[in-house]
Amino acid sequence: MKNIRNFCIIAHIDHGKSTLADRLLDYTGSVTEREKQDQLLDSMDLERERGITIKSHAIQMDYEYNGEKYVLNLIDTPGHVDFSYEVSRSIAACEGALLIVDAAQSIQAQTISNLYLALENDLEIIPVLNKIDLPSANPEEVTDDIVDLLGCDPDEVIHASGKTGLGIDNVLAAVIERIPAPKGSPNEPLQALIFDSVYNPFRGVETYFRVINGSIKKGQLIKFIATGKTYDADEVGTLKLKQLPKNEIKAGDVGYLITGIKDAREVKVGDTITDAKNPTRNAISGFEDVKPMVFAGIYPVDTEDYEELRASMEKLQLNDASLIFTPESSAALGFGFRCGFLGMLHMEIIQERLEREFDMTVITTVPNVSYHAYNKKNPDDVIVVNNPSDLPDPSTLDHVEEPYIKATIITKADFVGNVMSLCIDKRGMITNQTYLTPERVELNFDMPLAEIVFDFYDRLKTVSKGYASFDYHPIGMKTSKLVRVDILLNAQPVDALSALVHADNAQNIGKKMCEKLKELIPRQQFDIPIQAAIGAKIISRETIKALRKDVTAKCYGGDISRKRKLLEKQKKGKKRMRQVGNVEIPQQAFMAVLKLN
Ligand code: GTP
Repeated sequence: MKNIRNFCIIAHIDHGKSTLADRLLDYTGSVTEREKQDQLLDSMDLERERGITIKSHAIQMDYEYNGEKYVLNLIDTPGHVDFSYEVSRSIAACEGALLIVDAAQSIQAQTISNLYLALENDLEIIPVLNKIDLPSANPEEVTDDIVDLLGCDPDEVIHASGKTGLGIDNVLAAVIERIPAPKGSPNEPLQALIFDSVYNPFRGVETYFRVINGSIKKGQLIKFIATGKTYDADEVGTLKLKQLPKNEIKAGDVGYLITGIKDAREVKVGDTITDAKNPTRNAISGFEDVKPMVFAGIYPVDTEDYEELRASMEKLQLNDASLIFTPESSAALGFGFRCGFLGMLHMEIIQERLEREFDMTVITTVPNVSYHAYNKKNPDDVIVVNNPSDLPDPSTLDHVEEPYIKATIITKADFVGNVMSLCIDKRGMITNQTYLTPERVELNFDMPLAEIVFDFYDRLKTVSKGYASFDYHPIGMKTSKLVRVDILLNAQPVDALSALVHADNAQNIGKKMCEKLKELIPRQQFDIPIQAAIGAKIISRETIKALRKDVTAKCYGGDISRKRKLLEKQKKGKKRMRQVGNVEIPQQAFMAVLKLN
């Protein structure tokens, strides 16, 4: 055990985490060129295309240092705030972390939020100044920033380049010398932390774990504490680039487990694995059931595909336990599902997977957060509202709460004013402002999560000319003055377009919604009035003017290739349109409320 090191890499996005990890694998001879290619082919398409790590993985390296053999377990962490619970569990499985900072970009919001997570888990932090090969690198200044942040000695900051491989030997030496060996005892009852799982359609769910105490053996009857279920450990092993089956994984080490589980929901990240016959008395602390943060309706474009959509979602859920869904019906869209996601990225991933892997064409409605409503009569009973149209009659309600987050933003001093006005516009309350250097400022805000869902990133980018980084974590529910803005098309309410918004902004949002929908809904043979309403009160109105006859006539003339193009276009258009009453609504219209500027 004294020669094992468990560590992770934490960094702001694009500071070079994956590149550095690759260099570590190369340097320790853990991967051949051929294997590297295979590994790339194995990982999810989406992950590669987006260039970000969606799921965390672990990999074991063997390394000889000063004549001794070491086992280094690198536990990768997802790079997106949607998966922050998984990040926290991966961090909890380690004794140390490489904190990578881009020598040109310096400390950014995710650097800080991940650092705090690592410090909460008492990890040894090894600062790495990365990309020092860049001509724009600013090693002295950025080292000062790191020293200020960590209170460390400048000599402790390792200069490296994942691109050229410079400093990789020093990184490995620091991992061995500075990160403590795991504690724990192989003789105690088994206690292993699940930090990740991966669905494998052939072998069932692969569970990744870190053994804290005891050991886990092939054939052992084991138990997951949170779910209370028992399984036979059909296969255990270590995670090299490929899985390497072993008879036993002992305290301090990291490995994988296969039990034939076919449903991802049975394997919960953060759960404790123990021996079924001689269980530990203590579950590892920090387990939480992950809760979806963002909800949206998913409907088949063709109502006949409802059952197929259900089957697809069930299959998806088997390999992504964080997706939840319940059937719902909408007066406008018919039968579909209300789905819960970890965040907006997760929602996009599910939507894309439905299309790519299951060949479904779906309409997704405006995402919303989960609200808590309290009835006047029973103010102690919380009514969870995951769909704005489920909000009870406001006159019966005592109050409504919405989820809040703490936002960390790092920007240049020049943009502080802009960022502040944006955050205040988004109902944010500033809680802290720190000058990291004379040019760089960290700002903290408490803000409603709903405001982040609605076009926050884009606007932050605009107001800061791209010089702002942003991260957040949830801080609980707060009372808000919320009202529902309904949209009527052709005098018919379209429930799927309703949104819950703050009362003070309702008028403005209603007006902008009408304007936006006027842009997005194609003209038809008749006038279409668009109205926004709060209860029975109409707050705004626009009209989509009828098409003039000769316009269509002209379209259908012309040569054959143009006609074909037009038909193609229509076919594509149809894929993403829903007929509501006698109005055709395109997919973008359901997202209109997200793009109201
Ligand atoms: P993931 O979030 O896991 O995808 O990793 P990451 O975003 O932290 O960074 P990634 O390793 O994908 O690198 C981001 C970009 O920086 C890529 O274009 C890399 O080629 C580049 N890069 C990474 N390390 C270095 C370095 O040491 N020097 C230079 N010049 N570029 C680098």
